[in-house]
Amino acid sequence: MARARPVSGTASKDVHWYQRAVFYEVLVRGFFDSNDDGTGDIPGLISKLDYIQWLGVDCIWLLPFYESPLRDGGYDISDYWTVLPEYGQVADVAQLVDEAHRRGIRVIADLVINHTSDQHPWFRESRQDRTNPKADWYVWSDDDQRYRDARIIFVDTEKSNWEWDPQRGQYYWHRFFAHQPDLNFDNPEVADTMLDVVRYWLDIGLDGFRLDAVPYLFERDGTDGENLPETHDYLRRLRKEVDSLYPGKVLLAEANQWPEDVVHYFGDGDECHMCFHFPLMPRMFMAVRREQRYPITEILARTPPIPEGCSWGIFLRNHDELTLEMVTDEERDYMWSEYAKDPRMKRNIGIGRRLATLVDNDRRVAELLHSLLFSLPGSPVLYYGDEIGMGDNIYLGDRDGVRTPMQWAPDRNAGFSRADFAQLYLPPLMDPVYGFQAVNVEAQMRNPSSQLHWMRRMLEVRRQHPVFGTGGIEIVSTDNPSALAYIRLSDGGHSDGGRSDGGRSDGGRSEGGRFDGDEAPRWPDGDNLSTGKPLTPDGSGGPADIVLCVSNLSRFAQPAQLPLQRWEGMSPIELLGRTPFPPIGELPYFVTLPPYGFYWFGLVAGPPSPTGD
Ligand code: GLC
Ligand code: CA
Repeated sequence: MARARPVSGTASKDVHWYQRAVFYEVLVRGFFDSNDDGTGDIPGLISKLDYIQWLGVDCIWLLPFYESPLRDGGYDISDYWTVLPEYGQVADVAQLVDEAHRRGIRVIADLVINHTSDQHPWFRESRQDRTNPKADWYVWSDDDQRYRDARIIFVDTEKSNWEWDPQRGQYYWHRFFAHQPDLNFDNPEVADTMLDVVRYWLDIGLDGFRLDAVPYLFERDGTDGENLPETHDYLRRLRKEVDSLYPGKVLLAEANQWPEDVVHYFGDGDECHMCFHFPLMPRMFMAVRREQRYPITEILARTPPIPEGCSWGIFLRNHDELTLEMVTDEERDYMWSEYAKDPRMKRNIGIGRRLATLVDNDRRVAELLHSLLFSLPGSPVLYYGDEIGMGDNIYLGDRDGVRTPMQWAPDRNAGFSRADFAQLYLPPLMDPVYGFQAVNVEAQMRNPSSQLHWMRRMLEVRRQHPVFGTGGIEIVSTDNPSALAYIRLSDGGHSDGGRSDGGRSDGGRSEGGRFDGDEAPRWPDGDNLSTGKPLTPDGSGGPADIVLCVSNLSRFAQPAQLPLQRWEGMSPIELLGRTPFPPIGELPYFVTLPPYGFYWFGLVAGPPSPTGD
């Protein structure tokens, strides 16, 4: 049954909780409709918290719930201080946070500071003339020639990042839709007001924010307007504010950038606690389709070390298209040809599909991909509905195809709402393969061998091994390109021997992410098991946690010989069934993997049957 893991909010001493957390991304609009008006709402989400707790996730990420004309799913905010009436009220958010905390679940929300809706009163005022008090709150220009190097993000809809406003007789700057004017962060009033917004929602009890579209806060001539020093300065200011007033809150950056650029959003541990790893995501899909590990191992090798106390946020799918901005042109063509066979599946520079449809509803592949998500370095972020293998609707516009109602039951409207079908914010899926009659929570709850139960079990096993969240990784080289093997290990078993902590507040236990000076990177260069010291206790007296993960990216059975001599004498225990495997000897360790199979082994000292040590 459900665990009781109370969270004491800001009083919690565990300020690094996010490093071991599993996140669950929820579209309030699509989760559960409590008042039968066809739109999901916050009371509806509260009524489903028991389900989220049962599943075993640690933190909910709420998509924007603020007042908005909803022309971009709520990322077009028209009032930062209120909740969209269809979703509820500010008091409902406070109650949601309380109820979640009582269940040991934290709640973060999207914070959209780069832009507002053109319906925001600030913009209405700003566009009136050039002298009003808000005249300088947005980025205005007499011509549309400045910042030519900035790329256009929504290529399906926008031709320029400038839009002519006849009322003011000037152009305004927008990195996203034309109805989303960018705020002018050079204006100190804007910069200060956004900190007010942050304090306001943290006071209500939120545990942090996903910082939407954070690379684009400032604009400068002669640059592409991404990752500017001014943006990093502002993030440092934001972090300082959060740390001083609200310790234990998390800032998670949405920076769709190459690894070497994203790591700057961690700063020296003084910007964001977490950043999404965008380049890893498409490469997991590429690896299973190519049946080769290299897309994954190469991007891991290219990922620089990150500062102490920081974590990657890793994900397979989310509320946007599967973005292909962080791949080469050749890789993009490959992904499009493999995963977007129908041109309607393309969205902007990506693919507008959910996980289950991307893998042709092959549960083996979905499970393999999730096993990677749950075992690679970083905190996994699940997308609502993927735990039951929900599909998508490519005939809906923009990214709505992956935002259809959560499928709770085989009842009317998928058990999501009792409104008339025509009133629903989007139609639920009703096709024979992915429709709610075939795929829903109720049926999978009843079926112990369902994907839902599998997911819950995986999260349970992951929770027993904090090394998945905080440990380092070493790739284990093997001759078979379809096999991907790596060791996750805490500080005590680290290849650098685990350096002593320079004044860490938590006593220096297994953070696995310290990279000052010439310390070995968390994701070592190249595809080789780094040589290093044998297992040692992690300094706390207990043995280091060591997990060996082996995956088969191929659709056929595969053998793999793993050079594990460094761990000679230790015994692998398969973690899902707790089955002991033969001990590691002086020869390469041999495993046979079923199609798309994977193993997680805990390595324990001595022979398989307990000997007391
Ligand atoms: C982020 C969001 C996306 C939104 C965009 C503009 O990329 O993930 O959904 O459209 O920002 O706000
Ligand atoms: Ca409702």
